[in-house]
Amino acid sequence: MSDYIKTTEQIELMRQAGKILAEAMDQVSLIAKPGVTGDELDRIAESVIRDHGAEPAFLGYQGYPSTICLSVNDGLVHGLPVGQTLKEGDLAGIDLGVRFKGWNVDSANTLAIGKISVDDHDLLKAARQALVSGIAQVKDGVSLGTVQAAIQKVIDDGGYGLVRSLSGHGIGKQLHEYPSIPNFGQINQGPKLKAGMTICLEPMLTAGTDKVKTAADDWTIVSADGSQTAHIEHTLLVTSQGAEILTNWQEHEG
Ligand code: MF3
Ligand code: CO
Repeated sequence: MSDYIKTTEQIELMRQAGKILAEAMDQVSLIAKPGVTGDELDRIAESVIRDHGAEPAFLGYQGYPSTICLSVNDGLVHGLPVGQTLKEGDLAGIDLGVRFKGWNVDSANTLAIGKISVDDHDLLKAARQALVSGIAQVKDGVSLGTVQAAIQKVIDDGGYGLVRSLSGHGIGKQLHEYPSIPNFGQINQGPKLKAGMTICLEPMLTAGTDKVKTAADDWTIVSADGSQTAHIEHTLLVTSQGAEILTNWQEHEG
């Protein structure tokens, strides 16, 4: 596991990558309104990333054709921005990856487009709270199961569908590295976090079933029952004090 501990220099590059990602996410979030297309969001993200001398990390990843993933309503993750137009009441999941000087960061947020329903608002709140609860457990020496259990508790207590077939992950030179970090687990179980590790926590939940399926476009992962979904993700640095959020975009209230 020591391979996954980043040096001070590597951490600094990931910090810079994280600042670029946060800027791209902020710009995308600011323009994400009813009538805006996925292509427009994708273009803004790509230009912010390239203007900072970085590259979109998802573009070309396993053949992925875009800079962002745009996963709307029952779309949970890996939605294609092309051909989509946002409308009032949508839950728009924006997922972004940035590679800077060979180092990756990855982050997602689910945005309320215009006025959303009370149920959708509660779902978003639960997703945020699940991520916040997980982050609060992250610290050198803590077992990953403790972090995972904190995420799970919020999702289970809210009565939401906890998607088990997709997980958070380590990150660095590769977008997905050891360890895999499911959104469920047991306190004090699993590998221990070490200062200098960089990980992505990404709760994925639905208002209904815990089952997902791949849509006809062969990319978008949707809830199996068509229920609304939410996904939020940050890249974190593990320290002896806790977690440093490397992808610290601003919260936008819909
Ligand atoms: N953020 C996604 C994840 O952690 C990565 C998107 S991969 C792509 O799994 F293929 F959709 F680009
Ligand atoms: Co991720």
